[in-house]
Amino acid sequence: MSATTLEYTPAVERATRDVWQRVRHVIPDVEWPVHAPLIARINELKTERNAIILAHNYQVPEIFYGVADYTGDSLGLAQFGAGTDADVIVLCGVHFMAETAKILSPEKTVLIPDVRAGCSLAASITGKSLRAMKARYPGVPVVSYVNTTADVKAESDICCTSANAVQVVESLGVDRVIFTPDKYLGRYVASKTDVEIILWEGACEVHERFTGQELREYRQARPGLHIMAHPECPPDVLAEADFVGSTSGMIRHVADTRPAEVALITECSMASNVSVEFPDVKFTQPCNLCPHMQRITLPKVLRALETLSPQVEVPAEVAARAKVAVERMLAVGRSSSLS
Ligand code: 13P
Ligand code: SF4
Repeated sequence: MSATTLEYTPAVERATRDVWQRVRHVIPDVEWPVHAPLIARINELKTERNAIILAHNYQVPEIFYGVADYTGDSLGLAQFGAGTDADVIVLCGVHFMAETAKILSPEKTVLIPDVRAGCSLAASITGKSLRAMKARYPGVPVVSYVNTTADVKAESDICCTSANAVQVVESLGVDRVIFTPDKYLGRYVASKTDVEIILWEGACEVHERFTGQELREYRQARPGLHIMAHPECPPDVLAEADFVGSTSGMIRHVADTRPAEVALITECSMASNVSVEFPDVKFTQPCNLCPHMQRITLPKVLRALETLSPQVEVPAEVAARAKVAVERMLAVGRSSSLS
């Protein structure tokens, strides 16, 4: 196959035919001859480099279905990354996810196709500002969402994701915790536990844009609509939702309940990915794009594998402390109540 020429040759067409059959309803026909040669070459290079590609549920379908070896939520990516024996991990997601992979596997080469793929939550807190907060509440343990930098994880007692936040908070056996940085996830956790939650004022720039009023309008316009929301949404949005959960939790809920019509109150690309698996479910799309997730594209994935860059590095001393907090979370696992 002459995939290195990045032309849509008959060999490339054959190599990518199965992927195309899956994604043809969510990717325009005219785009496929551009994506297919990239997909074919990336998949060849993965073998040559003993690399795996981990893709978050918000990645575009050509990455999610074309080149990813594992897809999932933040918790799933961390769990899978910790167990792989590949030499190279390409993290198709945002920077904190790649950092988590590096923290758990310091001996591996961890690549992120665009280092500018950040996160408004991770940007809302630093190790220094967390140290100042801890000084105000001596002895109170810190639970940090994985949507944080390695520095912040290193200052934390334990990490959590949207899939296990309640369970993690309760695993500590204390009366109160500092919860960083997502105030909305923190409030949601507070509504599910007796543990007092001391909040940080961070928010996701994507999920905080949804409003309860727009969901009420969607519901009125579409009787029977099943609304699922990510816990990074504000409380008035969660109050309107029929189900609240992590991105993978929402996918499992669609699989389990097969509603006729669903609104996924989260990032846009996820509805495209899920609709491939569940063609009988109608997805209405009141969605917002995450500009950071959208920075990851097939040409950048190819370049990362060709050049083995940009590599994610975490100073050894920071990584060692951050690893303790991440591994404590992995030992708690995934909650059945908030998944
Ligand atoms: P999940 O862990 O639920 O996939 O969420 C990650 C994220 O960044 C959501 O905005
Ligand atoms: Fe961060 Fe929000 Fe984007 Fe998730 S959707 S990566 S929380 S900015």
